[in-house]
Amino acid sequence: MIYLDNSATSYPKPLAVRQAVAKALTEYGANPGRSGYAMSVRTTQAVYECRQAAAEFFGARGPQCVIFTPSCTQSINMVLHGVLRPGDHVVVSDMEHNAVMRPLAALGEQGIAYTAAAVTPGDSDATLEAFRRAMRPNTRLVVCTQASNVFGIRVPVERIAALCHQYGAKICVDCAQSAGLVPIRMEESGIDYLCCAGHKGLYGLMGTGLLILRDPEEPLEPLIRGGTGSQSRSLVQPDDPPERYESGTVNVPGILALRAGIDFVRRRGPENLWREETAKAAQLYDRLARMPQVQLYTGRPQLPDSLPVLSFNIRGMDSEAVGEALARHGIAVRSGLHCAPTAHDKMGDGGAVRVSPGAFTTEREIETAAAVIRALRPGG
Ligand code: ALA
Repeated sequence: MIYLDNSATSYPKPLAVRQAVAKALTEYGANPGRSGYAMSVRTTQAVYECRQAAAEFFGARGPQCVIFTPSCTQSINMVLHGVLRPGDHVVVSDMEHNAVMRPLAALGEQGIAYTAAAVTPGDSDATLEAFRRAMRPNTRLVVCTQASNVFGIRVPVERIAALCHQYGAKICVDCAQSAGLVPIRMEESGIDYLCCAGHKGLYGLMGTGLLILRDPEEPLEPLIRGGTGSQSRSLVQPDDPPERYESGTVNVPGILALRAGIDFVRRRGPENLWREETAKAAQLYDRLARMPQVQLYTGRPQLPDSLPVLSFNIRGMDSEAVGEALARHGIAVRSGLHCAPTAHDKMGDGGAVRVSPGAFTTEREIETAAAVIRALRPGG
């Protein structure tokens, strides 16, 4: 299989990640933070070390800022439900994933409105101006992807963060696609809430995610309540982060694998991975741009304007049919709407074939994929 679906989840996982899972199951098999026997204490320590590694990787204030979640989607929901109250207004970009748009649509029932600001690819001044126009006196939160999961278009989130703070609002950034590629320093960037998956650019397991708080002293209303292993006599959820937000047993194999994934990315260097993978996306772009039957929607992938994600269509063919044809040739891509219908509306494509290289993609695999795409014909 030629795997070009790393925006959905990275594959394969580095050897160290796979080994970390086996080690977690054999050597870190006790519940962390609940007991005082050796294996439980060891597991608590290993979980803490992953928190530390994540805090350092994202430039957060400390390990208490790092909350383990089951997904980026859950992290985003924790922020939306934890911050917003009836009467609040939210600004989003016009390329958001349903992880943002569906909870916001549901919160509309509680009197929480939102406005979508248009991102102008490659023009951060125009994008910033669109966000400025969308702000209202009651805007409490801006929720914005750092890069489109469909088109790889980057959004200038640091400039938008500064704008938000001028208006007294907070910013939550969906780093599902960018974490592990775009270097992020939380303190300097002004991002108040960073949400990401553990299983994409951080090379961890599916079923893992992070929510990182810029200021852990500013409490969010927890999305769920329950046992934390602390203050057990009280029926009130503890205030202390991160336990306040991690009721129930955490995913220890996933967390230890995430630690190994973060170490892998640190060793390779996020910017190196970003550059190398973008070169692969650009290589494919150059091949596709010479095929008259192929419709491309963005410019040639390049740093710092885009991530290594490329979407296209073949004229006269449904994107799902192209995905199926590529699958028959052993090429794994995603096609259709990618859970981000407004991003497709923006580009006017109605569904597209998405190619997303990863750390293990080779130039040869890109050449093979290009040759197979060249041969595809409607009805063929
Ligand atoms: N959100 C993931 C994607 O874009 C699953 O494919």
